[in-house]
Amino acid sequence: MSDLDKAAEAVLRANDRGGYTVPTAGLYPYQWNWDSAFAALGFAEFDIDRAWRELETLAEGAWPNGMWPHILFRADDPDYFPGPSVWGAGTSVGAPIASSGVSQPPVAATVARILYERDPEAGLARLRALFPKLLAWRDWFHRDRRGQSGAILVTHPWESGRDNSPDWDGAMARVPIRDLGSFQRRDTGHVDPSMRPTKDDYDRYLSLVAWGREAGWDTHRIAAEGPFAVADPTMTFILLRADRDLRVLAEALGETEAAARLGADCEAGADAAAALWSEDLGAYAARDERSGVFADGVSSAAMLAWYADLRDPVHEQRLLATLHDLLDAAPLAVPSFDPRHPKFDARRYWRGPVWAVVNWMVARGLHEAGHQSEAERLRHDTRRLIEGAGFYEYFDPCDGSGAGGPDFTWTAAIWLAWASPTKKEGWN
Ligand code: DGY
Repeated sequence: MSDLDKAAEAVLRANDRGGYTVPTAGLYPYQWNWDSAFAALGFAEFDIDRAWRELETLAEGAWPNGMWPHILFRADDPDYFPGPSVWGAGTSVGAPIASSGVSQPPVAATVARILYERDPEAGLARLRALFPKLLAWRDWFHRDRRGQSGAILVTHPWESGRDNSPDWDGAMARVPIRDLGSFQRRDTGHVDPSMRPTKDDYDRYLSLVAWGREAGWDTHRIAAEGPFAVADPTMTFILLRADRDLRVLAEALGETEAAARLGADCEAGADAAAALWSEDLGAYAARDERSGVFADGVSSAAMLAWYADLRDPVHEQRLLATLHDLLDAAPLAVPSFDPRHPKFDARRYWRGPVWAVVNWMVARGLHEAGHQSEAERLRHDTRRLIEGAGFYEYFDPCDGSGAGGPDFTWTAAIWLAWASPTKKEGWN
């Protein structure tokens, strides 16, 4: 075990609040959905029981309609805005824990498979208990969040996990800004505002929350009628991956009806994902559900197609060429948005920086598809970034400096599970 391995383990332990992990102290003081899934991946390197516990506590917040919300507010913390009283969600729809009113990419299903396969005997009972909730969550996506093309919609940029990506600029510009009264952001008190979304972004984020609250957090209605609905490659591809992994788990559990349904949905999902292909960009791209307009630049989300196991040979070759363009344009990969595009911003959150968790998913897909040199480039860059800057939330793809919150759970987890040299060539 190296010093950095020990430091990564210490980050996970320090962010552990007793059964669930915060992304980082101060900036994000609650349990976030996909952050928790990655935390479990990290814990699995030294405490498999604690890894399962992370998924189990996340599942505790599931709504009666099956949705797993993106934030669980177990205790009010004035250091974060917008908190439980602004959202007014979760308990208001009969869930046991106050929460946000949107979901996040279902990485947890894929991590459940990884934990189970690490030790099937020990994991079987845990998996059996968790599986119905994972299944209900993916059913919710298919029921409430499928757009006209079959690709999966996000109804708030926060739902995608890629809050201020240029992918949302067109749809966000049309979100009416409400009279929100005065509010005080807390995020810009924790980190440099130049690394965060703008005030205009926040006005629209909060206007969308107000709309959802007034709709009683009826998630079906919000997708059908709400002011923001965008078919998202992140959500579509991560859900497709989740469905494939849940199918394997269903078979392991002898859940034959579920396995058959998941298999059929995977085939339909792959067809739907093709609707996100933009010939202009040579990549998959976010597409505004209301206007039909594609995003105007390439984001790292496009490169999750391999993680989803999409294998259209024509698109794949073109996507690989586009990936090479991004790799050539950024000294450190993979940038969250195309460095050659005027909207690229090397340090502003999802408008350019590198995120270790995205690298892990993209590289895993590339590795499985046999694109080994590209997968290793991503691992190598992730390693260099963390060795050079520490466990930052994200990294500048041009100079490698760390940005956002320090001592970040998911960056430490990816170090332990993949980027550390002590992992050698292992892929879990
Ligand atoms: C934030 O507060 O920045 C989060 O990304 C919202 O989920």
